[in-house]
Amino acid sequence: MRNKRTIIISNRLPVRVERRDQELHFIPSEGGLATGLGSIYQQEGNIWVGWPGFVPENEQEEAITRQKLAELNLVPVFLTEEELQGYYEGFSNEVLWPIFHYRLSYAVYNTENWHTYQQVNRKFANAVVEQSPGEKDEVWIHDYQLMLLPKMVRDQHEHIAIGYFQHIPFPPDELFRSIPWRDQLIKGLLGADLIAFHTYNDTQHFLNACTHILSLPIQNNCLHVDGRSVYAEVYPMGIDFDKFSGLAQSPAIQERAREIRSYYKERKFILCIDRLDYSKGIIERLQAYESLLQTYPELREQIVLYMLVVPSRDTVPQYRMLRDEIDRAVGHINSIYGMNEWQPIAYYYNSFPVEELSSLYVAADVCLVTSIRDGMNLVCKEYVASKEQTNGVLVLSELAGASKELLEAIQVNPNSIDQIREALKLAIDMPETEKRRRMQDSIDIVRKFNVRHWVKIFFNRLHEIKTVQKQEM
Ligand code: UDP
Ligand code: G6P
Repeated sequence: MRNKRTIIISNRLPVRVERRDQELHFIPSEGGLATGLGSIYQQEGNIWVGWPGFVPENEQEEAITRQKLAELNLVPVFLTEEELQGYYEGFSNEVLWPIFHYRLSYAVYNTENWHTYQQVNRKFANAVVEQSPGEKDEVWIHDYQLMLLPKMVRDQHEHIAIGYFQHIPFPPDELFRSIPWRDQLIKGLLGADLIAFHTYNDTQHFLNACTHILSLPIQNNCLHVDGRSVYAEVYPMGIDFDKFSGLAQSPAIQERAREIRSYYKERKFILCIDRLDYSKGIIERLQAYESLLQTYPELREQIVLYMLVVPSRDTVPQYRMLRDEIDRAVGHINSIYGMNEWQPIAYYYNSFPVEELSSLYVAADVCLVTSIRDGMNLVCKEYVASKEQTNGVLVLSELAGASKELLEAIQVNPNSIDQIREALKLAIDMPETEKRRRMQDSIDIVRKFNVRHWVKIFFNRLHEIKTVQKQEM
């Protein structure tokens, strides 16, 4: 008999395919979902179903991709340009992403895109069904691109265990209500047995949407859907602590970190790493940095802001505009404050391998996270995990999910330029002993609540729920 399998499904696979010089290259995907889960899925016959990040030009490319990914337990769902435009750019990233990050004015409602979103969720459902899941298998669906999928899979497999995890915030129900297709989205999610979020507030917002919009009966965090008990709960995602801590302690990474520091003349090194996204507060942070240089001129030439922005969703107009805005803001600061030997900001619009990220974490005196809204933010946890041997300070937005766990970080309201500026000053001046005490507290939390722990408690709970449901039948 075949062992029980877990089928993970997300829009993006943890490996993406890139066509360069007429050849296909298979490289790790960026973004919290792919990097976070990437280290745990390759166990005993488990599979991960998702989009490989490119559109094949012919059947041969499709076949090569399928075969190469199969070696990694990955199953590609190929999408056409039209599907990507309607489902990914149009509906996921121009309706759900802005609304779920509290940016109502960025939402573009288009009925055709909604139809494509439904069609593509159906395509993913077919891909799951093709894997012939047995009653004992578990299905774990990830994120807002696939909100209709739990119900679509449930309709085919009445008793199978289905978990859904949302990696981004869930907005207050009055914001969620602005989406014309909100009822179908909630009904889609309710096909799952366990619906989980990073924070308590996100979970409450979801439950409120169920009661206020669909008038569903609810008892604490349990909803009753067609005679089935469905639970909405909080599971803050962790990172692969051992991987980041191990990398940070390796001689090669430490040597590279020294090289980076000496390149920047041992100046205080402030690090920011984000995908290009308006939810990350990149412009606000640049304003705060300029304010720091103006308010404390003695810091000029003593500090450097190293800002890595990873290209993302550049087919969506808001993202292209943001990129131009960042270019202008960085150019402005560097040209006004820069001197012969000193550029206030080192700005990279690129994506780096994990070894380079690790070296940057080790090198950085301060890691600055200014998200205006963020489901969790894994970058700050990766920084913490890299700081067992070197000291550092985390300045963290109170509007990122991670702020609920990393209480010893310097927390700021990211909409306040003054608060970010003063937090940076505090971080730069902080005595070593206080840095260590605060960082050690964060390390203990990130180590204990790591990604393996997250997966384990999620599945323990899913199994418990299935047992409860059986008893109710
Ligand atoms: N990251 C990456 N390559 C880079 C820069 C960042 O793979 O060049 C990763 C980073 O290590 C982190 C993820 O991208 O794991 C970003 O996750 P986060 O939760 O901070 O934000 P998201 O992108 O999911 O909004
Ligand atoms: C966030 C989302 C993920 C998404 C990632 C990268 O982490 O929660 O679902 O995969 O950003 O964005 P992209 O649009 O490139 O997949």
